[in-house]
Amino acid sequence: MQPRRLFVETYGCQMNKAESEAIVADLAAEGWELARKPDDADLVVINTCSVRETAEERIRGRLGWYRRLKRGRHFTLLLTGCMAERLGQRALEEFPEIDALVGTYGREGLREAVRRAGAGERPVVDGDGTFRFAARHSSGGPRAFVPVMHGCDNFCSYCIVPFVRGPEVSRPAAEVLAEVRALDANGCLDVTLLGQNVNSYRRGDGGTITFPRLLGRVAAEAGRIRWIRFLTSHPKDLSPDLIAVMAEEPRLCRHVHLPVQSGSDRVLAAMNRGYTAGGYLRLVDAIRGALTGVSITTDILTGFPGETEEDVRLTLALMERAGFDEAFTYRYNPREGTAAALLGDPVQEPLKLERLDRIIAAQRRIVVRRAGERLGKVAEVLVEGVSRRNPGELLARTEWDAMAVLPGDPSLIGRFVRVRLESLAGATFRAAIL
Ligand code: SAM
Ligand code: SF4
Ligand code: F3S
Repeated sequence: MQPRRLFVETYGCQMNKAESEAIVADLAAEGWELARKPDDADLVVINTCSVRETAEERIRGRLGWYRRLKRGRHFTLLLTGCMAERLGQRALEEFPEIDALVGTYGREGLREAVRRAGAGERPVVDGDGTFRFAARHSSGGPRAFVPVMHGCDNFCSYCIVPFVRGPEVSRPAAEVLAEVRALDANGCLDVTLLGQNVNSYRRGDGGTITFPRLLGRVAAEAGRIRWIRFLTSHPKDLSPDLIAVMAEEPRLCRHVHLPVQSGSDRVLAAMNRGYTAGGYLRLVDAIRGALTGVSITTDILTGFPGETEEDVRLTLALMERAGFDEAFTYRYNPREGTAAALLGDPVQEPLKLERLDRIIAAQRRIVVRRAGERLGKVAEVLVEGVSRRNPGELLARTEWDAMAVLPGDPSLIGRFVRVRLESLAGATFRAAIL
């Protein structure tokens, strides 16, 4: 029998990437092999994101490309992920090229959906409203992601995630630990625990396993896994216990991703974030005070309805004061069904872009300062692969989640090496092996 070839295209966050890995692992167990490009595949899975309209537009464009590809050859096209969940049946009406649709709660039915599509049906699978975590989310390699919770109860006024991912569910600690042990047995060295808001993790032992306790258990059972990370921390829920466990346990990497969104209390309240700029900065001080060498990264959202020049000034001042090691910056996009969508979209696009430019420029200066303090120092890095820009160089990650390029042999991939950090290109270090 001819091997069946699979191509998975992923958009959106790390959670989606982990879930795509789970899809690959699941289908591989049924005999599917990975195709190198979509043109060679018998099955294409597009794992979609809805967080911004721009994300959906890219996917729509991509679906158009697949529509044209379908004129020349037969293959099954399956849409899953947050946009599939958001559009549901509407997606099948809008995109005739889609053969099957699997929503957030239908992941277990994905293989069945592939079979039914093969038999000429056009299935829409959306499960029974109970989210089930896959057992594994890695198809090998030194670095892996392990979802520990799913969904979100925070309802930040701009955000679609609670609508497409549903309410928070924490994964039983025993399942998390089993996956971590399996990764260790497979030679994984760097694990990231995932959730939209990991600090509200609570499950098992009658609800007493908090996220810091879970981290302690994962660290205790990690075997040869040297680095343990987690994403994303919500500032309103990050507890002193979390800082304490990070200070005690050497395997917990000194990096906290702590999205701030805005430096203006008025905007933060309108966003329903549950903290003030002052509270956020106190948290930053507590983290930096307890964890030497820690990096703090963030997300910033500009152009929220009603955002004024003064609000932008407050955001820039907060960025300066917090000294973010990295910031992911976005301009606001209204999302259907969210509370903020009712406020319209009064900040005009050119103004949003201009504000975004100023925020990006400020962050560049902060990165030069923050990362500059690490230049000349020795660090341990985990080599992840060959640099895409220069095949003669390797790409590696530091404990504090910065990237480094270094000359070296590909045989070092998957190994820890000691390097000296010599210079900077943007936020990426150029390093030399010691
Ligand atoms: N759970 C994380 C948190 O609490 O910040 C964030 C998850 S969200 C998938 C990632 C980022 O997308 C957010 O931090 C926010 O900056 C951005 N984002 C969310 N909704 C957006 C919207 N409507 N327009 C533009 N950016 C948005
Ligand atoms: Fe969205 Fe807020 Fe939940 Fe993050 S915490 S996923 S920004 S609703
Ligand atoms: Fe996008 Fe869904 Fe993640 S909307 S950012 S893929 S949770």
